[in-house]
Amino acid sequence: MPRVRNAILALLACTVLLGVHPVRADESLYNDLGGREGITHIVDLMMTNILADDRIKHTFDDSDAEHVKKMLVEQFAQLSGGPVKYTGKDMREVHKGLHLHNSDFNALVEDLQDAMDVQHISFFTQNRLLALLAPMQPQVVNP
Ligand code: HEM
Repeated sequence: MPRVRNAILALLACTVLLGVHPVRADESLYNDLGGREGITHIVDLMMTNILADDRIKHTFDDSDAEHVKKMLVEQFAQLSGGPVKYTGKDMREVHKGLHLHNSDFNALVEDLQDAMDVQHISFFTQNRLLALLAPMQPQVVNP
């Protein structure tokens, strides 16, 4: 019996340890992106790219780009484990009616990648952020 109990305790310890590690990894992503200041630079450049991108710039014609940037900074900061709370709208709600396609999604991702290149964000760190954004695709494209 003690052996079973030990095994259960070991399992519990693993669960606690595994539970702690992802939090650390997320915090490191926020730091690797340059914290709030770095993320603000990335989002500024990303929006400049979007508004110059003939493929998707028209979708922002009736939008307040400054507000969207503010919300994106909060969202990226929260997603990457920073001490920031996203106060924006639900992703599905906000993109409903924009009639976006996969090609629009990919164009926006490219504009983000270009922004991160300019900020000298490593390929590894870029991919960690993109991996967090990828699951949002169904909420953005034909939500
Ligand atoms: C992972 C991908 C995306 C993320 C994380 C994202 C995130 C956001 C956020 C945080 C907002 C602001 C929400 C608010 O106002 O409270 C927003 C708004 C907006 N997004 Fe996205 N977005 C994504 C993809 C796209 C794509 C692919 C397009 C078009 C090509 C797009 C077009 C827009 C537009 C036009 C608005 C403003 C809507 C309005 O003025 O009501 N988004 N997005």
